[in-house]
Amino acid sequence: MSLQKPIRLRKTAPLRNLVRETRLSVDDIIRPIFVTHFNKQLEIETMPGQFYFPLNEVEKTIDASMKLGINGVLLFGIPEIRDDLGTDTINENGIIQQAVRKIKQSFPELIIITDVCFCQYTTHGHCGILNKFGNIDRKCSLKQLQVQALSHVDAGADFLAPSCMIDGMVKYIRKALNESEYEDRGILSYAIKYASSFYGPFRDAVDSSPKQGTRRSYQMDPGNIREALKEAQMDIDEGADIIMVKPALPYLDVIKEVKKQVSSPVAAYQVSGEYAMIKAVSQKNWMDENESMMESLLGIKRSGADIIITYFADNAARIINSQS
Ligand code: PBG
Repeated sequence: MSLQKPIRLRKTAPLRNLVRETRLSVDDIIRPIFVTHFNKQLEIETMPGQFYFPLNEVEKTIDASMKLGINGVLLFGIPEIRDDLGTDTINENGIIQQAVRKIKQSFPELIIITDVCFCQYTTHGHCGILNKFGNIDRKCSLKQLQVQALSHVDAGADFLAPSCMIDGMVKYIRKALNESEYEDRGILSYAIKYASSFYGPFRDAVDSSPKQGTRRSYQMDPGNIREALKEAQMDIDEGADIIMVKPALPYLDVIKEVKKQVSSPVAAYQVSGEYAMIKAVSQKNWMDENESMMESLLGIKRSGADIIITYFADNAARIINSQS
């Protein structure tokens, strides 16, 4: 006869609350936001419940998130014009620069993180500048990345989130920041970014799929975990303040391992496909949206993520607030 009866601890809600090991907190959550030149707020077809925000609507939606306790946003700009070099990435009146300036002015305490990449700004849709063979020109891309990074911090960004997976991206950005007296600005590195089909809804939303070739030649192979630890260590050595694993749900083992190995905070990005999956299935009433959302987020936290970037930010915050 076993004297252990785990169900004694599950009998009532107060008991379950008493012994719960992992809890979500609104403090952990970062909300991604898409900013555009459109003149009105439009829903994103592949990401129901997410919107393209025009510059004059973005403060309103951020204000609503902040009232729920969310203190960080990750901004993506969708430019009006694209070209081979992604020139709008360095335009001081580019979409992201304008958005950051406006948001910083209204919410000085908000943590403003900007995605630093080229893909939705270029006609070819790759994450860097291409050479004549159609491959990423590393040196040239890194130089432009420095200019882009500086234009974001000039506008008021607190953290830069380079997502292009070009070797040395963190080192080059850190150097540019330090040389321009921006030592106080941080880097949240997309250190461990897998070549994933789960970015599909995002690429559709911002029209950033590569026109030719594949991102598999620079994003990480889904079979690798030791390489993830190497990427994390390299980025920390180059000056990253926070290490990100992306996507989250198919890579919980990676989050767990990275958390064990590094002493920097670990962020996990619950990407567009993870969001859209829950949305689509619950729209069919095959799963409860709020419960599956909270369960996924809890799983990400339990695996070791200190920070969760999620399109469910507002909704999750509402539920967390109602429970406490
Ligand atoms: C840009 C970038 C991507 C995402 C974040 N930054 C797309 C990609 O790498 O293809 C994906 C985010 C998501 O799917 O939610 N490089």
